Amino acid sequence: MSEITTTPSRSAWPRWVRQSHRWISVAFVLSVIATSIALAQPEPIIWVSYVPLLPLLLLFLTGTYLFALPYFAKWHRRGRDVA
Ligand code: HEM
Repeated sequence: MSEITTTPSRSAWPRWVRQSHRWISVAFVLSVIATSIALAQPEPIIWVSYVPLLPLLLLFLTGTYLFALPYFAKWHRRGRDVA
């Protein structure tokens, strides 16, 4: 119980990033489908093919954070043990 009240921000932030990553991945898939349709036109709409780059960049940033999360936690624990 006391653990929940003393560390609220430490547990909320990763969950927020994970949910963002999940929903951005949906936007990324939709933008890739839109790009395929746009490029399959008799006169391809080239600029649409740049649209997936924005969600892909956000996926990279949030995904790198999610990847590093267990290592952050390990370093944090180790630092606390030493202190
Ligand atoms: C661009 C670089 C990306 C990186 C570095 C990355 C990294 C990660 C990491 C580390 C996780 C957490 C895995 C775990 O549970 O331990 C994750 C989860 C996930 N990734 Fe990515 N990812 C990337 C791109 C993508 C893309 C392109 C998609 C789909 C279009 C995607 C969809 C997902 C989904 C659905 C999850 C599960 C989220 C959840 O737990 O609800 N990711 N990703």
